[in-house]
Amino acid sequence: QAQSERESLLIALGFARDFFVKNLETAEGRSIGLSYFKERGFGPEIIQKFDLGYALDGWDNLLNAAKKAGFQEDILLKAGLILEKDGDPSRRYDRFRNRVTFTIHNISGKPIAFGARILTKDKNQPKYINSPETPVYHKSDVLYGMFQAKKSIREKDNCFLVEGYTDVISMHLSGIENVVASSGTSLTEGQIKLIKRFTDQVTVLYDGDAAGIKASLRGIDLLLEGGLIVKAVVFPDGEDPDSYSRKVGSQAFQDYLAANAKDFIGFKINLYRDEYERDPIRKAEVIREVVQSIAKIPDPIIRSVYSKEAASLLDIEEGIIYAEVNKILLKVQ
Ligand code: GTP
Ligand code: MN
Ligand code: MN
Ligand code: MN
Ligand code: MN
Repeated sequence: QAQSERESLLIALGFARDFFVKNLETAEGRSIGLSYFKERGFGPEIIQKFDLGYALDGWDNLLNAAKKAGFQEDILLKAGLILEKDGDPSRRYDRFRNRVTFTIHNISGKPIAFGARILTKDKNQPKYINSPETPVYHKSDVLYGMFQAKKSIREKDNCFLVEGYTDVISMHLSGIENVVASSGTSLTEGQIKLIKRFTDQVTVLYDGDAAGIKASLRGIDLLLEGGLIVKAVVFPDGEDPDSYSRKVGSQAFQDYLAANAKDFIGFKINLYRDEYERDPIRKAEVIREVVQSIAKIPDPIIRSVYSKEAASLLDIEEGIIYAEVNKILLKVQ
């Protein structure tokens, strides 16, 4: 029976997942891959839950194993598993080498892509190498961890959004399963639609650095535009959910989330608090920032609720907020 190309790609990606997972049991995989995960606190159970693996050091380990198992090179190429030097079909080699691997699943749990992390501090190589776009992997429609998270997202009616693979995994170890990662790329409409299949509430947990805060601000507006209820947490400087949960432990981590989750108004006020309390011009800027976000909310009733809250928190007349929001809405039309 003829397979569709999609089916062939999924089977090849499943083979690669199995290969990377089994590599962890080889001598090389144990001493390099498994010990790397162990150092990060990732034991056998979580390794299995997330299909973590290891890509052996060498140019053609996966290529040869897959060919031996009957896979055509063209399928491996199309699946993003191998690369071709100078467009020369006789010079094909493994994309993922000498790295630990993170399997990216579709929402029914089938492997569709991989992320692979370097094991050294070598700054000349990218920290992560990821699968390219393929017929079965459209980055902008995928969130890492959704397969493992979807049930919990429904139950909790909330979705935590983090930057990285290891943030998702560490949060599971902290007992939080309703978490997905945008994997370093900026959030897309497709990803927001995916979240909306399971909940309409999102809590953004991006890294506590300048890039993370900038990405939070952009993400918050996009989520508001998508009609979601948004909160965000800022982590101490240099911490991300993985490092911070490991540092303080799971209970303190959960307490931190509960105490620091702020809606977008509180989040923006917090970012500027010190400056704005003394400086009327800075304060006006913060008000404008908040108004910009309120104007993104599609539902007029929710817009009005937040306008009220903003007026109260920013200590300014409600009428001013409404007037400014309406100005923006009229301009957009
Ligand atoms: P760890 O250092 O392993 O804890 O990773 P991290 O998730 O904290 O990394 P970081 O905050 O730097 O980046 C967040 C996410 O962006 C990662 O999980 C990756 O998905 C992605 N990313 C990071 N570095 C790279 C890179 O060099 N190339 C690509 N393509 N993606 C990256
Ligand atoms: Mn709901
Ligand atoms: Mn980061
Ligand atoms: Mn990080
Ligand atoms: Mn990290």
